[in-house]
Amino acid sequence: MEKGSPPLFLAPMAGVTNSIFRTICKEKGADILTTEFVSADGIMHRNARTRGYVEFTPLERPMGVQLFGGDPKRLAEAARQVIDWVNPNFIDINFGCPATKVVCRNGGSSLLRDCPLLEKVADAVVRACAPLPVTAKIRIGWDANTINAVQTAQLLEGAGIQRVAVHGRTKAQGYSGEADWEVIASVAASVSVPVIGNGDISDGATALHRMKTGVSGLMIGRAAMTNPWIFTEVKAAIDEIPYTPPSLEMRWELVRRHCSSEVASKGNERFAMQGMRSRLMAYTRGMPAARPLRASLSLVSSLMELDDIIENHLLEIPDETALLIS
Ligand SMILES: Cc1cc2nc3c(=O)[nH]c(=O)nc-3n(C[C@H](O)[C@H](O)[C@H](O)COP(=O)(O)O)c2cc1C
Repeated sequence: MEKGSPPLFLAPMAGVTNSIFRTICKEKGADILTTEFVSADGIMHRNARTRGYVEFTPLERPMGVQLFGGDPKRLAEAARQVIDWVNPNFIDINFGCPATKVVCRNGGSSLLRDCPLLEKVADAVVRACAPLPVTAKIRIGWDANTINAVQTAQLLEGAGIQRVAVHGRTKAQGYSGEADWEVIASVAASVSVPVIGNGDISDGATALHRMKTGVSGLMIGRAAMTNPWIFTEVKAAIDEIPYTPPSLEMRWELVRRHCSSEVASKGNERFAMQGMRSRLMAYTRGMPAARPLRASLSLVSSLMELDDIIENHLLEIPDETALLIS
C-alpha cells in the first residue's frame, strides 16, 4: 500500500473469496483480505470443512477471519480457537448477513435490531482476542424504517471494535437497490475508528467519488468477481496515475490460472470446473460476444474444454484493450 493512500479491502463473499481468489485480488492490488463468514458453532465443532475456511497463506497477510453467531460466549471461544489455529491479523464480526439460516440463529444482520446483544457480542469477542484487533462489518440497518448504522457503529466503537466496514444497504434490501453512501458518510463522521465504505464500487471514478464521503478506505466485492483489476484501477484513480485496462488475452490468462488452481486444489477436475461455472459467468460479464460464450461456458467440465473456448473466442474477437468491462 502506498503511504497515505486509503486501504482497499476485498469484501468477504461466501463461496467466492477462498484463498485462491483472495491471492488473485491481492496480486491485483487489494490491501486487506478477509475469509468468508464462518460460523462460530462450526469452529467449536472443529469440523474439517470449517477449518478449511479459516486457513490462508502467508502471502495473504494482513488477513482477517470473519465469524458470525449470536451467542457472545460461543463467539468469543470461537475467536480464541481461530487465533490458536491460524493466528490471523484480526478477527472480523459479521453483523450484516441477511440469509435466513443465519438470521434465524440470531447471527449476522439479526443483531442490528438487537443492539444490546450486538454490544455484548462485540465486547465478548474484543476481550477474548485482546491484544489482537477485532473489526466489524455492518449494514446500515434492518429495514428502511430502522436505519441505525450511526448508533450501531458508536456502540461497536465503545465496545473496543477497531474498524467498521459499512455496506450501504439494509438487511431488507438484500442486494437490490443502491447502496446509501449518505448513511455511510454519517457513520464516518460520528466515530473515531476507521470506517470502510462498501457497496456498488465498480470503477475508479466511482471509488474516487465515494472517498469524498470521509471514509478511511473502500471495500469492493462483486466488481472484483468480474474484474480483479478493479483494485489496480481504483489505486490508479486515487493516486492520479494512468490506468490501462487488461487486454482480453490477459483476462483469459487470469481465468485459466484461476481454474487450474481450483483443479489442483480440489484434485477432481470435473468437480472443480463445474464449481467454476458461475465464476466464469462473472468473469465474462462485459466481454464481447458474451452470450454464445456464456452458453458454452455453462457446460464446461475440463480445462481442455475451457482452452478450446478461450482459443475460439480470441480468434473471433480482435483484442482491443480498452473495449472491455466498464
Ligand atoms: C456471493 C456473495 C457472498 C457474500 N458473503 C458475505 C460474507 O460471507 N460475509 C460478509 O460480510 N458479506 C458477504 N457478502 C456481502 C459483501 O461482502 C458486500 O458487502 C456486498 O456484496 C456489497 O459490496 P459490492 O457492491 O462491492 O459487491 C456477500 C456478497 C455476495 C455477492
